[in-house]
Amino acid sequence: MSRKQIHLAAHFPGVNSTTVWADPRSGSQIDFSSFEHLARTAERGLFDFFFLAEGLRLREHAGRIHDLDVVGRPESITVLNALAAVTDRLGLAATVNATFNEPYELARRLASLDHLSAGRAAWNVVTSSDAFTGENFRRGGYLDRADRYARAAEFVGAVRELWDSRPPGGAPGTFAHSGPQFRIEGSFPVPRSPQGQPVVIQAGDSAEGREFAASAADVVFTRHSTLEAGREFYADVKGRLARYGREPDDLKIMPGVTYVLGDSDADAQERAAGIRRQQVSPQNAILALEQVWGRDLSGYDPDGPLPDIDPDPDSTLVQGRVRVADPVAVARKWRALSEAKGLSIRQTVIESTGRQSFVGSPATVAAALEEFVATDAADGFILVPHLTPGGLDDFVDQVVPLLQERGAFRTEYTGTTLRSHLGLPDPVWKGGTP
Ligand SMILES: Cc1cc2nc3c(=O)[nH]c(=O)nc-3n(C[C@H](O)[C@H](O)[C@H](O)COP(=O)(O)O)c2cc1C
Repeated sequence: MSRKQIHLAAHFPGVNSTTVWADPRSGSQIDFSSFEHLARTAERGLFDFFFLAEGLRLREHAGRIHDLDVVGRPESITVLNALAAVTDRLGLAATVNATFNEPYELARRLASLDHLSAGRAAWNVVTSSDAFTGENFRRGGYLDRADRYARAAEFVGAVRELWDSRPPGGAPGTFAHSGPQFRIEGSFPVPRSPQGQPVVIQAGDSAEGREFAASAADVVFTRHSTLEAGREFYADVKGRLARYGREPDDLKIMPGVTYVLGDSDADAQERAAGIRRQQVSPQNAILALEQVWGRDLSGYDPDGPLPDIDPDPDSTLVQGRVRVADPVAVARKWRALSEAKGLSIRQTVIESTGRQSFVGSPATVAAALEEFVATDAADGFILVPHLTPGGLDDFVDQVVPLLQERGAFRTEYTGTTLRSHLGLPDPVWKGGTP
């Protein structure tokens, strides 16, 4: 076991454009049986945790609810509480927004999940703060983008104070937190939970986001999923830890990645191309183009050339998702690619977006995953399957045993809490605030 160990997590698919809904094997993204299937598979594969993303407003496209959001999804912590009853060891991670929640309420709900799951709760702190989402929570305004990490950092600090305000096995103490964002005091209602401090995950990429992760998070969920970008991100974020008196191993870096397996590498490549064609249907190709252009392009032929008009940089055609920073530059790049290779709109979108991260035979994928971790491009992966709910089955059956043979992945759970799966130290009780 001297090799650096890989950490694995399972992202429940749905709502993103990775999921292939047209596949006859696709199931519901609402039924509990789908959550249960994926969670049980992840636990069978000895994964560290199961992960739920969350958005707080249905996205809109040209004034209509985005197709993928029509079906909706249940609230994350509620789902995880139910999964706690059908799993034993698997960590349970909920994405919860720090902009539109309150520390007391969230600390209570996460401590409750940690109790019900016997020490498996995690919180993915996200900071989306756009005015469109804010309309669902309006109290006379929403948070300015510049202030969201200030609020998130103070939010996490306040939640930790609440968790620490009750001594292990002891009666409620009191807490008092006073800062620019929150002025709260009282007694915390939930006894100290098995982990004491449930695991904190951070997803966000700006300099402020990375600094926040270095100061406060146990895990970073990142989009940097190529070897080169991964190594750069890894060195950058780990390099920030010393400032906070933390060791490199105190923070695990886990990119979200997709994968396609096949009987051989060539078979996997062929499958991957087929999946890309399903993910980018003719209709989705136009939607993807409209997201960049910010214009109604419904009159364009997906099999024809790209529009020669420029994007509208100030467009509000698409609401509730982050638009690319410089749409005019992206459009120029796509046009150049299409002209150089003679690609249609659909082919250009297929080439330019969402290519699968790991494609190959199980042996090829296992070797590539291990290389990533061994060379410090990551500490592990949040796997994003493209099928609900069976998308992880082949990975657990075919890749996990190879990682185990290589000595890079556990052959049994050695602890019971998520902190122990992640190799994180048990938190020392710091005592309540007066
Ligand atoms: C890998 C990844 C996953 C994310 N998942 C969610 C999510 O499920 N829900 C959400 O509201 N925001 C999510 N976000 C958005 C972040 O919380 C944040 O608002 C966004 O990345 C902008 O912050 P930044 O400028 O620091 O990157 C995610 C971001 C990243 C990088």
